[in-house]
Amino acid sequence: MSTDASASTIDRETCIELDAADPLAPIRERFSLPEGVIYLDGNSLGALPRGVAERVQHVITEEWGTGLIRSWNEAGWFTKPATVGDRIAPLIGAAPGEVMMGDSTSASLFQVAVAGMRMRPGRRVIISERGNFPTDLYVLEAVQELLGGDEPLERRLIADNGPTLADVLDDDVALVVLTHVDYRTGRMHDMAEVTRQVHEAGAIMLWDLAHSVAAVPVDLNGANADFAIGCTYKYVNGGPGSPSFMWVAERHQGEARPALTGWQGHARPFDFEVDYEPAPGITRFRVGTPQLLSMSALEASLDIWDDVDVALVREKSLRLTELFMTLVDERLGQWGVEVVTPRDPARRGSQVALRIDDGYAVMQALIERGVIGDFRAPDLMRFGFAPLYVSHADVWDAVAILEDILTTESWREPRFAKRGAVT
Ligand SMILES: Cc1ncc(COP(=O)(O)O)c(C=O)c1O
Repeated sequence: MSTDASASTIDRETCIELDAADPLAPIRERFSLPEGVIYLDGNSLGALPRGVAERVQHVITEEWGTGLIRSWNEAGWFTKPATVGDRIAPLIGAAPGEVMMGDSTSASLFQVAVAGMRMRPGRRVIISERGNFPTDLYVLEAVQELLGGDEPLERRLIADNGPTLADVLDDDVALVVLTHVDYRTGRMHDMAEVTRQVHEAGAIMLWDLAHSVAAVPVDLNGANADFAIGCTYKYVNGGPGSPSFMWVAERHQGEARPALTGWQGHARPFDFEVDYEPAPGITRFRVGTPQLLSMSALEASLDIWDDVDVALVREKSLRLTELFMTLVDERLGQWGVEVVTPRDPARRGSQVALRIDDGYAVMQALIERGVIGDFRAPDLMRFGFAPLYVSHADVWDAVAILEDILTTESWREPRFAKRGAVT
């Protein structure tokens, strides 16, 4: 690796000093990360917290193996979706009783989007954004078809380069579904201001927090939002396939009717009645049997969040992303590498995207050198900065390795052009 700092105004020593003064630095020890890896993909799949394997093992051998069916009561399995939801609540500005764990994020979006639409009968428009994560757009298409009657409902899409929300909002809009932090560029919406605009038009605001929860401070109640969903396998570190969450503002819980009315959302599931009657509160958003093994991994990962102040996480996240962008500007400009993430901290999540020709091959070369990020077609390399386990020295080293790959053109080796199913 190049340790030549002549092209930078910031040297590696400075980064080490920043790490020494970092109050979150000791938290890195609570993660099990492979030697020699700089992990910059926590925005896709968070790292493994120590203690998760033991917790899952305990659930398997003790709660399942020994407790058997008794564990639904004795180990609190039946109420897990709500009790774990209550532990997510402080990360998103929610109150106890407002968050329910669900299935995949896509399924949870369907569950609450239908509820939101039903609260505005007669209105025929859903707004989302062109750059939204595709599953959101696909799920909304199904909602349009399902609730449209003879004619599908209308979809209007905003975009960072126009049209704006103000251009498309009117009194025919029922629901607005936006992802708070853009999955590609890391651009962040102003949650309070957007929600205010949407309410002014009389519509319902639903936020996708996939790239926000545990990455940036989120205050759903402070913003007076209506619904939200998010995943727990990114910055929360809940593990591959860990359950999503749904948030329904307390004021809507009496009226809101979910799309999927499963038995565990019934008022009296163990009365096995023939007709559906929604449970009171957020419980009606439950569907069927929860995925307890995934839930137990998530629970163990939340132990770390019990001890961490998200305000400190945000401070460090902004320092890391700023450092990365500065080093990229100073050292990689000659290869036409362009930072596409907003420089304004108020508009930036916890990731940075770089536009670069042949980004896929360059990313594969980087991964081979131990710097793990990912690639989003057509031309973006994404780097996520999870402040619990990424250091300032990691950032410096990652840019130095990237510079070396571009200087030597090692990325041109044919094996780096071979595409896997997941990029
Ligand atoms: C913004 C956003 N929403 C939804 C999803 C998809 O979630 P799931 O695969 O859990 O349904 C993702 C996945 O990365 C995402 O980035």
